Amino acid sequence: MNNNRNIQNDVNLAEVDLNHSIPEEETKRQYYFMAKAARYVAELEQKLGHKPTCCVTTFGCQMNARDSEKLVGILEKVGYELIEDENADFVIYNTCTVRDNANQRVYGRLGVLNGFKRKKPHMKIALCGCMMQEPTVIEKIKTSYRFVDLIFGTHNIFKFAELLVATFENEGLVIDIWKDTDQIVEDLPIERKYPFKSGINIMFGCNNFCSYCIVPYVRGRERSRAPKDIIREIERLVADGVVEIMLLGQNVNSYGKNLKEPISFAQLLQEIEKIEGLQRIRFMTSHPKDLSEELIQVMKHSKKICRHLHLPLQSGSTRILTSMNRRYTKEQYVELAERIRTEIPDIAITTDIIVGFPGETAEDVEETIDVIRRVKYDNAFTFIYSKRTGTPAAAMDNQVPEAQVKVGFDKVLKTVQDTAREQVSRYQGQIMDALVEEVNENDNSLVTGRLSNNTLVHFPGDASLVGKIVNVSLDECHGFYYMGHMV
Ligand code: 5AD
Ligand code: SF4
Repeated sequence: MNNNRNIQNDVNLAEVDLNHSIPEEETKRQYYFMAKAARYVAELEQKLGHKPTCCVTTFGCQMNARDSEKLVGILEKVGYELIEDENADFVIYNTCTVRDNANQRVYGRLGVLNGFKRKKPHMKIALCGCMMQEPTVIEKIKTSYRFVDLIFGTHNIFKFAELLVATFENEGLVIDIWKDTDQIVEDLPIERKYPFKSGINIMFGCNNFCSYCIVPYVRGRERSRAPKDIIREIERLVADGVVEIMLLGQNVNSYGKNLKEPISFAQLLQEIEKIEGLQRIRFMTSHPKDLSEELIQVMKHSKKICRHLHLPLQSGSTRILTSMNRRYTKEQYVELAERIRTEIPDIAITTDIIVGFPGETAEDVEETIDVIRRVKYDNAFTFIYSKRTGTPAAAMDNQVPEAQVKVGFDKVLKTVQDTAREQVSRYQGQIMDALVEEVNENDNSLVTGRLSNNTLVHFPGDASLVGKIVNVSLDECHGFYYMGHMV
């Protein structure tokens, strides 16, 4: 699966002098360790009689998906072959801890990995990502999952090559978790999953401390990448065939505020818009409290920014929003959404909703349903509140009984489905451009494309269309997607 998408790895590892002292500059230091790891992987290849295989499994959000591309970039660079099968020579789980069910899935699957490792003792198992930033998780792995070889967290992922070397040089568990960092290490290898689209980190961490959310504790304080580094990365990606980018951050609307030379997110978008060859710009996630009029105007006049805004609501009750520390009211949110719809009528608005936050009553749920009906989301991710140890909400004494949560959740879900169906279907019969992403998994006479507004459309076509932007007639709306044909 190595198809030359690893565009930033122009360092030839064979030329790195391992007799030289370890470089101090971080990027050079990591290439030194990649060169070292490559020697160990080559030895392993000799022993096994085949190229050692690796498998990277991602849980959670698009940030994690992007981090996994960095892990794959390094693993391929040092000589592993990437496979989909977890019965590989090196397996890494990039974990998520935003809700407890993500944690439970990791524990369940670790048991299966142990079965593989018993038959293949040289196998290495690594864990990284948000879940590893929680001390209770580390304790549990140390006592109950002793077959794990490497654990690291979110702040030192750039050190992966160095830690990989440590697993070859040490018996037992290698563990390196940092509490926080202000470092951003540029120019390490990245292996993209798709040749034609890519995520790009513009900032890391979150300073908002919504009372239910563990992200600020596991991803640390907000820090923005320098605009020139972002632009340079996008220019390289475009030169390499990328037509659509997704700018990633927990709260993109506060991008750039803490840089030495402050710049707004809207200004960054205008700079990115100028990049020739780039056709589509997406971003995620927006916090309603920080979404500026400047951004609405830039989106409105842009030719490249997609007609999609993900604007997490979380709750429609001002009382609950206050307790969640979201820092906007129901009215402010609805007013913002209406303003966006007036300025950009063809925009799709999607959202995240939590049901069952401590103290939430049936009336609060009705307020949420009222917002869904008024804003008319094109799609909404609805979550049952999950208690995260260490967050302020976990200590609130009015946790909602499960049965009551279920009733509210079903009601919210039904409203979302009804309004989304109506909203998505308003384009039936129109012709729109779609970026073809893949041959349809269930029917290989069809391909799947993504509209600017993020809705999917399936239509007759073949693999030669993948990565191209084509005009498609939206013939039939099926709830959240369309069936169509190319025109
Ligand atoms: N319980 C349920 N959902 C949560 N989210 C974040 N924390 C929790 C939690 N403790 C949801 C929010 C956020 C999305 C990424 O995950 O809706 O926007
Ligand atoms: Fe969590 Fe709120 Fe930050 Fe989003 S903005 S990551 S919900 S704390």
